[in-house]
Amino acid sequence: MKEYQTILTERKGKVGLVTFNRPKSFNALNPVLLTELMDALAEFDSQVEIGAMVITGNEKAFAAGADITNMVDASPEEMRQSPFIPAFDLIRNIKKPVIAAVSGYCLGGGHELAMSCDLIIASESAVFGQPEITLGVIPGAGATQRLTHTVGKIIAMEMILNNRTISAMEALSFNLINHVYPIEDYLTKALTLAQEIADRAPLAVKAAKEMVNQSHEVHLTAGLKEERNTFYNLFSTQDQKEGMKAFLEKRTPTWKGS
Ligand code: HXC
Repeated sequence: MKEYQTILTERKGKVGLVTFNRPKSFNALNPVLLTELMDALAEFDSQVEIGAMVITGNEKAFAAGADITNMVDASPEEMRQSPFIPAFDLIRNIKKPVIAAVSGYCLGGGHELAMSCDLIIASESAVFGQPEITLGVIPGAGATQRLTHTVGKIIAMEMILNNRTISAMEALSFNLINHVYPIEDYLTKALTLAQEIADRAPLAVKAAKEMVNQSHEVHLTAGLKEERNTFYNLFSTQDQKEGMKAFLEKRTPTWKGS
C-alpha cells in the first residue's frame, strides 16, 4: 500500500483496515482524506487476499463532518466544480463489503460516509447527527435520502431540521447500526465481523452486496428480476458447487473465488 498523509492502512488477515488520521480536527473530512480513503479502498478491493474492509476513526471521533475550513468562503459554483462531494460517491464503486467502526462523533459528512458503508458497528460513546442546519446548509452527501430511508421521515426530519443527535443505543433501535459494544471492544468486533464475511464465498458476497444496495435504487419488480438473474448466474461458479456439496458432505467449504 502507498504512504498516505491523512489515513493509516493495515492488513489484518483477510481484512483491509483504514484509520482516519486527523485527530486534531476530530477527523474532519477534507479533499485529501476523502481521496486517500477512496484510493485505499479501491486498492484493497483489487487485492484477492482481501475479502472485506473496515474504516474507522479514533475513540473520540469517527469523523466530525466535512472540514468547515474548506467550505466557509466557497461560492455555489466552486462547490459544484469541487471533486469533494462526488468523492463521497466513489465508495459505491467498491465491490467488497465495507464496515464502518464508529466511536465518538459521527456527524454531518462523517455520518453520511458511515451510512454509505454496508454495515456499522458502534462503541457505546458514538453520537450520530446531521448538524448542517446549524451552519446554514443541509446535508449534501446523502443524508436526506439514506437517513430517511433508514430511520423514517419523522426522526430524519428532527435530526436534519433541528440537529437532534442520537446515541449509539438509539441508533441501534432505529436500525441505523448493526451492533453496539463497549469502547474497548468495538474495533475488534468490527474486524471479527469483517473477517467472518471475508471467509465466505467471495463472488456470492459481492453479488449479495450489489443486490442489497440496489434495493434502494430500483423499483421492486426490476430489483426482484435482477436478484433472480444474479442468483441464477452464481450457479456458473465453482463456489456454488463447492458450497452445496460441502453442506451435503457435512464439511466446511473451501472457497476458490471462481
Ligand atoms: C473543521 C473541525 C470540525 C469540522 C471539529 N473541528 N469539527 N474543523 N471542520 N467539521 C475542529 C475544531 O475547529 C477544533 O479545532 C477541533 O476540531 C476540536 O473541536 P472543538 O469544537 O474545540 O471540540 P469540542 O468542543 O469537543 O466539540 C466537538 C464537536 C464540534 C461537537 C465535534 O467540534 C463541532 O460541532 N464540530 C463541527 C461539526 C459539524 O458541524 N459538522 C458538519 C460539517 S458540514 P481547533 O483548531 O480550534 O482546535 C458537513 C457537510 C457535509 O459535514 C456535506 C457533504 C460533504
